[in-house]
Amino acid sequence: MDNKAPSHIAIIMDGNGRWAKERNLKRTAGHSAGADVARKITMHCSNIGVDYLTLYAFSTENWQRPRLEVEFLMKLIEKYLKQELAIYLENGIRFKSIGDVSKFSKSLQKIIRLTEEKTAHGKKLTQILALNYGSRDEIVRAVRKLNEKNLEVTEANIEANLDTVGIPDVDILIRTSGEVRLSNYLLWQNAYSEMFFTNTYWPDFTKNELDDIISDYNNRERRFGGI
Ligand code: IPE
Ligand code: IPE
Ligand code: MG
Repeated sequence: MDNKAPSHIAIIMDGNGRWAKERNLKRTAGHSAGADVARKITMHCSNIGVDYLTLYAFSTENWQRPRLEVEFLMKLIEKYLKQELAIYLENGIRFKSIGDVSKFSKSLQKIIRLTEEKTAHGKKLTQILALNYGSRDEIVRAVRKLNEKNLEVTEANIEANLDTVGIPDVDILIRTSGEVRLSNYLLWQNAYSEMFFTNTYWPDFTKNELDDIISDYNNRERRFGGI
């Protein structure tokens, strides 16, 4: 592809519930279908040379959903990570989580930690899952760390204490399902991202649609405040 790959793509994987409803399925079936698409898009990003792919899997606000849906999502994340490990290792993919995972069960925390450790040497794509992630929570935790370490409040110090430390700012932000909002996702890191909103529900999102977004991105002029 002579379509230059961006360094960092972040996706708000939205619309699983509506996708399922349209098919007279339970919302949870939409989440399962969504996990399969997350796998396909991760592999595609790795193949085309994207360095970082950050996927919003569970927000700090998603605890407000019905208990059974939250429980399903917890189990799905656990199952997904267990299944992915072999794929990550085979393909040189590094896995990392952002968000406050201390609110998850001990067993899920352990799987997240082990997956990070075992894939730490991956040299291709880094897949970052946002798990119990909220941007405001992340920024508050970062500022608290500055206080504890007695560090001056500077952009560099805040950045170095965010969950995304070491990861470049977002180049392309994509939200599926037709909603046009950020929903507390990477507020700091999206300061200068190019944003794309598509009506496609996440379970219907394809590699082709991603390629089209990347080529559109390559035709945009990023000025970063300059002229
Ligand atoms: C996104 O799909 C997945 C999560 C938030 C976990 P939704 O579950 O929000 O699907 P809609 O927006 O209700 O269709
Ligand atoms: C954002 O989607 C969170 C994830 C995709 C994990 P939501 O469906 O939770 O966002 P709102 O409530 O529509 O803003
Ligand atoms: Mg939604």
